[in-house]
Amino acid sequence: GIAAAAAAVAAYWAYRKLRSKKAASDGKVLRSAYAPPPYTIEHVDLDFILTEAEAVVYSTLRVKSNHAAGGPLYLDGEDLELRSISLDGVPLQEGTGYTRGEEGLTVLSPPAKPLPFELKIVVATKPQDNTQLSGLYKTSGNYCTQCEAVGFRRITYFLDRPDVMSTYKVRVEADKKLYPILLSNGNEVGRGDLPAGRHWAAFEDPFKKPCYLFALVAAKLEGIESEFTTCSGRKVRLYIWSESENKDQLDWAMQSLKDSMAWDERKYGREYDLDVFHIVAVNDFNMGAMENKGLNVFNTACVLAKQSTATDDDYERVQGVVAHEYFHNWTGNRVTCRDWFQLTLKEGLTVYRDQTFSADMTSPAVQRIENVRVMRSHQFVEDSGPMAHPIRPESYLAIDNFYTLTVYEKGAEVIRMYHTLLGEEGFRKGTDLYFDRHDGCAVTCDDFRAAMADANGRDLTQFERWYTQAGTPTVKAAGAYDGATKTYTLTLSQSTPPTPGQPTKLPLHIPVRIKLLDRKGGALLPERILELTEASQTFVFNSIASEPVLSLLRGFSAPVKLDFPLSDETLAFLAAHDDDPFNRWDASQQLGKRVLLALVAEWQVADRQSRQQLELPDAFVATFKATLAASLDASLKAYSLALPDYSVLAQDMSPIDPDALIAVLRFARRSLGQRMRKELLAMYESLTSPNEKFSVAPSEVGRRRLRNVCLDFLAAGGDEQSLQMCRKHFHAATTMTDRLAAFKALAPFPSEALDEVQSIFYERAKANNEALVINKWFAVQASTYSTDALEKVKALTKHEAFDGTNPNRVRSVINTFAALNPAAFHDLSGSGYEYIGTQVLDLDKRNPQVASRLCNNFRDWKKYNQKRQALMKAQLVRIRDCKTVSKDVFEIASRSLE
Ligand code: PHE
Ligand code: ZN
Repeated sequence: GIAAAAAAVAAYWAYRKLRSKKAASDGKVLRSAYAPPPYTIEHVDLDFILTEAEAVVYSTLRVKSNHAAGGPLYLDGEDLELRSISLDGVPLQEGTGYTRGEEGLTVLSPPAKPLPFELKIVVATKPQDNTQLSGLYKTSGNYCTQCEAVGFRRITYFLDRPDVMSTYKVRVEADKKLYPILLSNGNEVGRGDLPAGRHWAAFEDPFKKPCYLFALVAAKLEGIESEFTTCSGRKVRLYIWSESENKDQLDWAMQSLKDSMAWDERKYGREYDLDVFHIVAVNDFNMGAMENKGLNVFNTACVLAKQSTATDDDYERVQGVVAHEYFHNWTGNRVTCRDWFQLTLKEGLTVYRDQTFSADMTSPAVQRIENVRVMRSHQFVEDSGPMAHPIRPESYLAIDNFYTLTVYEKGAEVIRMYHTLLGEEGFRKGTDLYFDRHDGCAVTCDDFRAAMADANGRDLTQFERWYTQAGTPTVKAAGAYDGATKTYTLTLSQSTPPTPGQPTKLPLHIPVRIKLLDRKGGALLPERILELTEASQTFVFNSIASEPVLSLLRGFSAPVKLDFPLSDETLAFLAAHDDDPFNRWDASQQLGKRVLLALVAEWQVADRQSRQQLELPDAFVATFKATLAASLDASLKAYSLALPDYSVLAQDMSPIDPDALIAVLRFARRSLGQRMRKELLAMYESLTSPNEKFSVAPSEVGRRRLRNVCLDFLAAGGDEQSLQMCRKHFHAATTMTDRLAAFKALAPFPSEALDEVQSIFYERAKANNEALVINKWFAVQASTYSTDALEKVKALTKHEAFDGTNPNRVRSVINTFAALNPAAFHDLSGSGYEYIGTQVLDLDKRNPQVASRLCNNFRDWKKYNQKRQALMKAQLVRIRDCKTVSKDVFEIASRSLE
């Protein structure tokens, strides 16, 4: 009893401390400090009375002690007005029955017995004032909830941790006219009218779940409805809801949902488990979407799609996110996380599942390239900066800050490596065992690894290091061919650079997929997987008939960097002949990177005049030409022609010189556009099909993608002829993909054509009430460099359509400027930094989660020159030391400064 009481009190003070941000390091939650909950909540009964003034929540909890002894019961709660609390029918008094702090409430002496007792708690909140969009809030006049990770405590007092799993019964009561649609998790079990124009509905979710999966919606919405018959013959009703003007943009999500349901049965043997599945689209949402049991809530940007408003990339995102949230039903909901350090258990696995689903629905090679681009352009950067963390972090101040590319994308790469090591069948045996063992439980990453190992009789002990070590490993390769003995000797060595708090690293278990090619691209050694487990290892291959070309890390078989210097000729050979489409693309990118970085170095030492004389090497133009002419899938061709992006180039520069990078990228595009004009025009024309019937089939997506890449190069000169070409492209367009491509290509060139396109783009979106299109319109402008870019961005925030309370709109202008307009953000005057610093602090007052993401733009300040470092650091200090800063933003600013 005493021990448990002491633990509860200690837990309480830990929470209080968390509040005092100056002692941030003390307030951190540690993975090593995990302890099972002293109490569990078996069943939850919630009654929501929603009125315009407030939401009153009546909660009845059936609580059971996990020890025989009892002791104080600490419940999380934030921004709640407590109306009453009683235990087994007896009201509790403050001071004697319970105590209250800013972050929770302690029931001082619950009955000391293993039997369940009943806590009844009544609280009130003001959803209309909830600008954080966590908990119960209003969006466009509708009620909705967001509970992951720790939003349920903003709805009622609770043990807000994922290892407390309960069954739920929920009743919602609201005005019938204003909120005709009432939804919560599980199956509807009752509905009726009430006096004064009100109505109610009741729901039961038979599956135990952590409270982060709770959801409620009370709204005026319209929807589409369909049905899916599961593999065992059960019929499931499917609904997708949105505001009425979006009703014509829901079909693609419905198709994607059905495809996901069928795929999960086929690929993983996972069947849906309720009679109904809802998706609700909302305008105001901090993240992409949320997998609440049977009631997914989506950011409109991840669910709406139609030809005239969504690009092909948008269609792809909708398909991927719908699948992702649906797949969570098994990987996340049925089997959930024990604590938030295990986040990658559900996210890495579910991202891996949605990536492979998308690959099956479209093209594996294209999908792989897109996924690796995200890893290299963004995750590698995170992994090399002050916020670097293992996919299973060791500590946090605000868990919302750890929904990162590392946890999600690198986490998915780690899952993919199990698949690579164990093969398709072995991997499936592993997931089967995982579901068998842990259905209905809250488990850890170690449990997943154990299932993979046990199902296959494999030792995966060393593999754990992927979960404990941060940073991107480098694999160094050196190959030698001996013509006399016909042997090829390959030495692979690995190292991982230090990251904050992890000065030394141990060798990882790395699957390296290779093949030895002959000079025509044929095989001298069939594809195989080498397991690199030591710091350095040598592999010898016999009977290799002639000197091979090594195709290394095929398909990006591990999330590592390669140190394998190849000649330009060998890269050009691989770009043309490697039979692994990923590696072929990769070789084209390595070549491009080499050429562009050399130009950057030239640009930096050149004076104004000699900068005019920069030239692309003829060999590079020749490779470009060969790629353009090759017989290759259109999307693959488009991606091979595209130049390596800013972020990829910046990673090989110290200090990063945004001006030089942007100037050289512009120059290279313009130069290729001029030197390849004839070929690009011919390709563009050949891909123009005037009577196209809209389709997102991979061939059509590829056609538009390649055609728009050609347009982009052709327009890069900004001459009158190409401006007119863009204008024509815009007017002839029947898809948002093409319209947006024309607008983007024109954007850097102030002209009549740009004015015309820009205004038509906006007026049409405004007339049709298309918020997502208006976001694109804002984003194109905010990402366009000009000497007065910052002034333009400030003007955009005064535009009639700007809305500082809508996260999508804020991101489309402000985050876009900070993240995608590097030459302006990093302007040496410091004005861009100052502006974003001010925005972070301003946003933080309303929405810490969105502010914290924006603050990440200062994170890599140490990678810039002294002048910029000082200016960025000043903003970080200003943010960190602001007295009212949230713990979310404080954590990013303070860790960035460490
Ligand atoms: N769990 C959600 C997903 O991966 C992401 C999310 C996190 C949404 C936190 C809202 C809040 O799809
Ligand atoms: Zn997820």
